[in-house]
Amino acid sequence: MQYATITGWGKCVPPAILTNDDLATFMDTSDEWIKPRTGISQRHISHVDTSEMATVAAKHALAAAGIDGSELDMIILATASPDTLIPNIASTVQANIGANCAAFDINAACSGFLYGLGLATAQIKSGQCQKVLVVGAERLSFYIDWSRRETAVLFGDGAGAVVLEASDIPGGVLGYELNNDPEGREILKASFGTSMDRYVAESLDFYIQFEGKEIFKRAIHGMSTLSAKVLDKCGLDKDDIDWVIPHQANERIIDTLVHKMKIPPEKAFVNIANYGNTSAATIPIAICDALAKGMIQPGQHILSCAFGAGLTSAAVLLKW
Ligand code: ACO
Repeated sequence: MQYATITGWGKCVPPAILTNDDLATFMDTSDEWIKPRTGISQRHISHVDTSEMATVAAKHALAAAGIDGSELDMIILATASPDTLIPNIASTVQANIGANCAAFDINAACSGFLYGLGLATAQIKSGQCQKVLVVGAERLSFYIDWSRRETAVLFGDGAGAVVLEASDIPGGVLGYELNNDPEGREILKASFGTSMDRYVAESLDFYIQFEGKEIFKRAIHGMSTLSAKVLDKCGLDKDDIDWVIPHQANERIIDTLVHKMKIPPEKAFVNIANYGNTSAATIPIAICDALAKGMIQPGQHILSCAFGAGLTSAAVLLKW
C-alpha cells in the first residue's frame, strides 16, 4: 500500500504590499469597513507573472523535500489567472525547474489546490507516480477593476507549492472529497473565454463579479458538507482534528464554518489579514505559514477545505 505524503512546501508572495489605508487613498473605502467584514488588513500585489511566483514557490518546495526537479513524475498547477492559456503555465514552471514529466494546469478556482492534491494522491496511490508537485498560484490583481470597491479590497497575489511523495509509512493524504455545483456557476465569475464575441471583448469591462451574501452561505454549506464526508470516509471524528486549514476568502466565513462544525475556533488557522484572498494559493501559503510558526506536529490530523467559482468545493484530510 502506497501513501501520499507531503515532503516539501514553499511559498512566494510578491514584495509590494497594499494596505487597507493605501486603498482608502484612491477609493471610497476604509480599514474600518474592510477589516471587521473580511479580516483583511493588506494584500500583496505582483509585478511578475503567475508562473514566476509559482516557480519560486516550487523551488522552495523542492529544496525542502531535498529533491531535484528532474525527479518529478508530474506537475499539477492550480490557477484561474495563468499568464498564458496556451501553453499551460505548468509547462513554464517545468522548464524553470528542469523537470521532464507530465505537466498541466487545472482551474477549479479557489478549490484548485485541493483538487490538485486529490489528483496527485490518486496518481501516487495507483502507483503511476512517485513524486508530484502541486502548485496553487494566482495573480488576481490582473482581474481587479480598482474602481469597484466591492471586489477590489478582497483579493491578492501569491503562490504556494507542495511536493507529494509515495511512502510506505501510513499517513499523508488520508482522504479527499471534490464536488461542483453548476447551479450556482453564475454567482461568481470573471467572464473571459471563447464564448465572448471578440469584438465586444475589446471594449468589455473585464472584472470579477460575485454575489457576496449568496457565496457566504454556500461556502459554509459546501465546505462543511464535504468536510463531514471526508471525516466519515476516513473513520474519524471532528474531535480528532488538530488543525483546520481552510481557504481564506473571509475570516467570518471561517468563524462560521468551525462554529457550525463544532470545532474550537483556536484550531482554525487564519492568515487572511496578511494576504487577502489569493484563491488557489491561499491553502498552500497557509500550510507554509502554519509550519513556519511551528504549529503543526508530526502525527497531527489536518482538515483542509475550500470553496470557489464553479461552484467548486473540496475537503482533504491529512495526517502530518
Ligand atoms: N468599502 C466601503 N463600503 C463598501 C465596500 C468597501 N470596500 N464594499 C461595499 N461597500 C458598501 C456597499 O456599497 C453597501 O453600501 P449600501 O448599504 O449603502 O448599499 C454596504 O457597504 C454593504 O455592502 P454589502 O455588499 O451588502 O456588504 P456585505 O456585508 O455583504 O459584505 C462581503 C461584503 C465582505 C464581500 C461579504 O458578502 C462576503 O464576505 N462574501 C463572501 C466572500 C466572497 O464573496 N468572496 C469573493 C470571492 S469568493 C471565494 O473566494 C470563495
